[in-house]
Amino acid sequence: MTGRAVQLRRTARFAADLYGGRARAVIDVHVRHNEFARLSAVGDGDPYPIYDRIRAAGPFVTTPSGHLASADHAICKEVLRGRRFGVEPEGAPRPEPAFDRSFLTRNPPDHTRLRRLVAPALSARRLADFTAMLESTVGRLLDDAAGAGTFDLMPALAEPLPVAVINRLLGIPADEGALLATYGETLGGAASGFRSLRHARDVMVAARALTRLFEDIIERRRAEPGDDLISVLLAAEGDGDAELRAVELVPLCRMLLIAGFETTVNLLGNAVNALLDHPEQWSALVADPALAGAAVKESLRFDPPVQRTGRVSFDDTEIAGQAIRRGQWVNVLIGGANRDPAVFRDPAVFDLARDDGYDHLAFSSGIHRCVGRPIAELEGTVALRMLAERMPELRRAGAARMRAMPMVRGPLSLPVTF
Ligand code: HEM
Repeated sequence: MTGRAVQLRRTARFAADLYGGRARAVIDVHVRHNEFARLSAVGDGDPYPIYDRIRAAGPFVTTPSGHLASADHAICKEVLRGRRFGVEPEGAPRPEPAFDRSFLTRNPPDHTRLRRLVAPALSARRLADFTAMLESTVGRLLDDAAGAGTFDLMPALAEPLPVAVINRLLGIPADEGALLATYGETLGGAASGFRSLRHARDVMVAARALTRLFEDIIERRRAEPGDDLISVLLAAEGDGDAELRAVELVPLCRMLLIAGFETTVNLLGNAVNALLDHPEQWSALVADPALAGAAVKESLRFDPPVQRTGRVSFDDTEIAGQAIRRGQWVNVLIGGANRDPAVFRDPAVFDLARDDGYDHLAFSSGIHRCVGRPIAELEGTVALRMLAERMPELRRAGAARMRAMPMVRGPLSLPVTF
């Protein structure tokens, strides 16, 4: 068979899977009334009533493909922390390089080895390095926005701030950083699956372009090391038993970009969205901007950017009376766990003063818990504090437009005035 024929056959199979999957999803929602399928089809709608129904149905519900899902906080935590659950089946073949998300999708020992290389650069101890940069970036972005009077918070603040942080972390100049952000957005947007053949093609093109861009930056940094994370990683690079294999470097950079960008954009968007929906909470923040940290924490609980993750069982086991087979996946519904009334009093109430919010799962738990948490929380805290100080009269200038779920939740557009 010629290369062209192979390509055509692959495209046809991919299209059949994509559109056949959609038809099956319609049946699962409307004929089988499967709550998990309903959640997956929620699009830009409100997922929280569905999580409540899933939790009310018992510790687990079954997905249309025979896997499991839970919105119960204790169960989600047990699965995330379970030593006999992982992010890939034991002995699984490696994913295609374009979608290799480095140690986020690796079990130990690879996970441990790679995470150890990155963690020090993102630790709470390094935050002082970022604070001044964050304050000056937020100040500049708010000055620009103030000139416009009415503006969209997403492109004005929520998107450029995490880009500036990732650029600083990886030591990337602003012009290339803007390109990285565009590719990162395209790839991050694919976390919830492909919308169409055209979307799949755009994602592949972005993945290849991003790889080339990182390869180029890495080559330059190899010749001229700096004090950035790529230079630190290059120092650990080698063949064979070295800490970092050469082929692992680009996927690692790509994962950092995707994991740190889209998530933080949506933290900022969801936090401001919730504050504008609850004017008394916004007023409390304006009266005391030191509440910005509490606002970040409550927003992460109330409306987390990453709504779900998954773990696969290495053994036949049982949790809360539910048999779980070796190789069966459990969908951990973070957005649902964060509204579990067994842990959070009046979970649907957005309240900066709550004292039971610390156990939210927005950053996951266990060995894959978010390594960027300190920097993400700092970004959110600086942004909300300065927004409350500089624009105390902030209010909506139109309806927010939300991105389609199921993986990542947040506004695409958030028009405001002040
Ligand atoms: C509000 C912003 C953020 C949220 C909500 C978030 C959320 C998460 C979640 C839920 C996971 C774990 C996924 C799982 O258990 O399967 C994770 C992992 C990770 N995050 Fe974040 N993240 C945020 C910001 C960041 C930032 C700023 C960075 C880096 C600059 C980052 C880097 C990572 C990395 C490297 C992992 C993989 C950890 C591992 O597998 O050991 N994240 N994040």
